[in-house]
Amino acid sequence: MKSPDLHNILGFVPQADLDTLRADAEYSNALLSTGEGKGSDFLGWVSLPSSITTQFLSEIKSAAARLREKAEVVIVIGIGGSYLGAKAVLEALGNPFTAPRIVFAGHTISEDYMAQLMDSVKEKQIATIVISKSGTTTEPAIAFRIVKQEIERRYGKQEAAQRIVAITDASRGALKSVATEAGYQTFVIPDDVGGRYSVLTPVGLLPLAVAGIDIDALVAGATRMEAATASTVKFDQNPAAIYAAARYALYKKGFKIEILAAYEPGLQYFAEWWKQLYGESEGKEGKGIFPASVIFSTDLHSMGQYIQEGERIIFETVISVAGSRHQVAVPCSDDDGDGLNFLAGKRLSEVNHKAEQGTIQAHVDGGVPNIRIEIPSITPDSLGELMYFFEKACGISGYLLGVNPFDQPGVEVYKKNMFKLLGKPGY
Ligand code: PA5
Repeated sequence: MKSPDLHNILGFVPQADLDTLRADAEYSNALLSTGEGKGSDFLGWVSLPSSITTQFLSEIKSAAARLREKAEVVIVIGIGGSYLGAKAVLEALGNPFTAPRIVFAGHTISEDYMAQLMDSVKEKQIATIVISKSGTTTEPAIAFRIVKQEIERRYGKQEAAQRIVAITDASRGALKSVATEAGYQTFVIPDDVGGRYSVLTPVGLLPLAVAGIDIDALVAGATRMEAATASTVKFDQNPAAIYAAARYALYKKGFKIEILAAYEPGLQYFAEWWKQLYGESEGKEGKGIFPASVIFSTDLHSMGQYIQEGERIIFETVISVAGSRHQVAVPCSDDDGDGLNFLAGKRLSEVNHKAEQGTIQAHVDGGVPNIRIEIPSITPDSLGELMYFFEKACGISGYLLGVNPFDQPGVEVYKKNMFKLLGKPGY
């Protein structure tokens, strides 16, 4: 990927403001390496890509191969960081018009969703990957109970144990105990890697390998970005430090909402992953940029109006995809009844890029600063690179803001209320 293009924020934030943040951004990045910042128990993700061995990847691939052999559909159970990374990559790389091998559960308590999911797999061979770091999260625990019962009912306990893989903490939590007792294959989420930074652990890698995604390339892209954003890399060469400083400078100028915009619908869940990463990492102590997302040009016909003319507290970060993986051109029409022959022969990607250029200009003119991040195309390698880039920038951003980017104390509040209302013992 190219370094973030900041020239469309300079009308809103003087270069001098960015210059004063250089040292702070470099220092924040250094804290991620030295472990002297807040939340330093959760820095395992920083060197994760380069520490992944080929042997580890082989273990993941052989577990994936076994599940592929046994099941037509694998139900991946998890919520938050325990599903969004895999979902983001799958949606970006999969074909939306072919039947999925992976379906997700446990990220919602919707009765209708669960009923429809179970109905959709009743004629299919199934297996499941259940993911929960704590092993105690209610949503995936409920889904797992339902899926486990169905698998045991269909195949018996012994075969069920071959069709269930658990990804959880090394030693703690209810899921670990259940998995050990039943003899499920298990993978460990390292203690020092929090949920939203866990896409390159088995949490993301196993479901992606089951789906046939090239996880070696995903890890290779992330490893390259690990080197490109290392604490030894100076601010001007470090894309993560540049992005973190830019968004912090905008925040200080009153731009409190960041909209991640992409012109590829396949990146919708990438944006959801990004929102979780930044929302949970930064939104605390009464501070933080609110992360939102849009898919253009689709949402230009809905959110576009607000972005162009609503309250001026928004900045946009565009993920610009230079090349598409397929070719479709606008056909020529003999009568040109719709007046579109001026586009005849042009690739849709060319039209899409013009839409992007025109929109960026319109929004900047309308008072919305713009950061542009260009990737060559949507591939496992470029997604791995982009994910690590956003993780690193998020760590730096959190430290610039003065918060602990690796905890999520606010997430507990609704749980206490829900448990009390449901009559859970002790609440
Ligand atoms: O980022 C996080 O830590 C959270 O979003 C968790 O991933 C989410 O709450 C699920 O937790 P667990 O994996 O413990 O079930």
